[in-house]
Amino acid sequence: MKQIKINGGNILKGTIKISGAKNSAVALIPASILSDDIVEIDNVPNISDIDALNEILEYLGAKVSLENGHMTIDTKSIQNKEIPKEISNKLRASYYFMSALLGKYKHVEMYFPGGCKIGARPIDQTLKGFEILGAKIKEENNKFTIDADELVGGHVYLDMPSVGATINTMLVATKAKGLTIIENAAKEPEIVNVATFLNNMGAKITGAGTSEIRIKGVEKLNSCFTEVIPDRIETGTYVIAGALLGDNLKIENIIPEHIESLTLKLKEMGVDIDIQNNYIIINKCEKLKPVNLKTLGYPGFPTDLQQPVTVLLTQCNGVSVLEETIYENRFQNVPYLNEMGANIDIIGKKIKVHGPTKLYGSKVVATDLRAGACLILAALVAKGETTIMDIEHVLRGYENIIEKLTNVGAQVSLEEI
Ligand code: EPU
Repeated sequence: MKQIKINGGNILKGTIKISGAKNSAVALIPASILSDDIVEIDNVPNISDIDALNEILEYLGAKVSLENGHMTIDTKSIQNKEIPKEISNKLRASYYFMSALLGKYKHVEMYFPGGCKIGARPIDQTLKGFEILGAKIKEENNKFTIDADELVGGHVYLDMPSVGATINTMLVATKAKGLTIIENAAKEPEIVNVATFLNNMGAKITGAGTSEIRIKGVEKLNSCFTEVIPDRIETGTYVIAGALLGDNLKIENIIPEHIESLTLKLKEMGVDIDIQNNYIIINKCEKLKPVNLKTLGYPGFPTDLQQPVTVLLTQCNGVSVLEETIYENRFQNVPYLNEMGANIDIIGKKIKVHGPTKLYGSKVVATDLRAGACLILAALVAKGETTIMDIEHVLRGYENIIEKLTNVGAQVSLEEI
């Protein structure tokens, strides 16, 4: 088990370089299976979710090399076998193998995916997409056996703009005969990244990034090269750190449009933020105004930044209300923040944050990835030392977080216990 210790209060000064997006990379890697040749992906983040996906690829017989963020995947010798529960259970994104293997071999056997315990997270929309495209699904004890005599394009309406269901349907439709239309598709930048990757291989996808995606199936996909887009959630997390403690803190290698829902809110709060083409410079703000926030699919405020931004709300002068509309169980950070001195009420899907409050070092637990990021931010502001246990959750999604924070002046250390 790993934990980190943070001595709070230090000003953050210098530059943080943003890594490739976790939620793009974890879809691009399984999608590579659809190619009949070698694919290359650049800017792959060094996080444990990527290690878990590589474990699956290697288990299936792919040849994988990953050096300095450059990944080469050769799936020519792959065997389509059942993916063991212990590996697929490690992360949510393992279910992109469901669609990639189904698209390529018309047969797949695997278990319900893992992932942070932040809500029920059913996969009914993904399964609906598979069925509309001609697959038959059997489920027993959380194991799915999915077969198709033939995959044929169809019209898929998603009940909610699900990122996973959009990507999964896109992956299968790429190898289905004829035209597939996904209505009410998710519009996240990661979906555009995956569609571009598939198009580079020879797929025919239009409309990614809008709510209607059209996919004309193709028989063969070739070799290709792509780059993982910058991680907008990692960007947002460090931008929030800058608003809390920055002294001209520079966050670089970013796409500012991807986090406009955050930066516009920060401006409403009165934060001093200078946004340029591919970097942001941000300073600590002494008198923050309270705001109301509601999580929504892109381009709305991302649920993945909801927990990190709560720390900033604790420093605002007045009451802020934040509503979580995507997940049922994403306030597990709140009791720990209150233990550290925050004054937050949970009222159903909303939290009411009474600010400003001083935060104090404490012993807390990272219950999930973004809860962990939130507690790291809280610890950076808090007076005294904070120990954050179960930090493995954070290492799943933030590349070199200890080094990145230490380089800009934070006092952070990682311990094995
Ligand atoms: N949903 C269903 N049925 C489905 C699919 C989704 O009811 O078949 C519901 C979910 O329960 C949730 C909502 O729809 O309430 C949105 O789920 P979505 O499918 O969009 O989420 P996901 O694909 O499972 C990805 C990210 C999450 C991120 C969400 C929303 C990956 C691997 N995960 O999850 O990232 O919160 O999109 O943007 O891409 C994180 O990085 O910390 C994280 C949780």
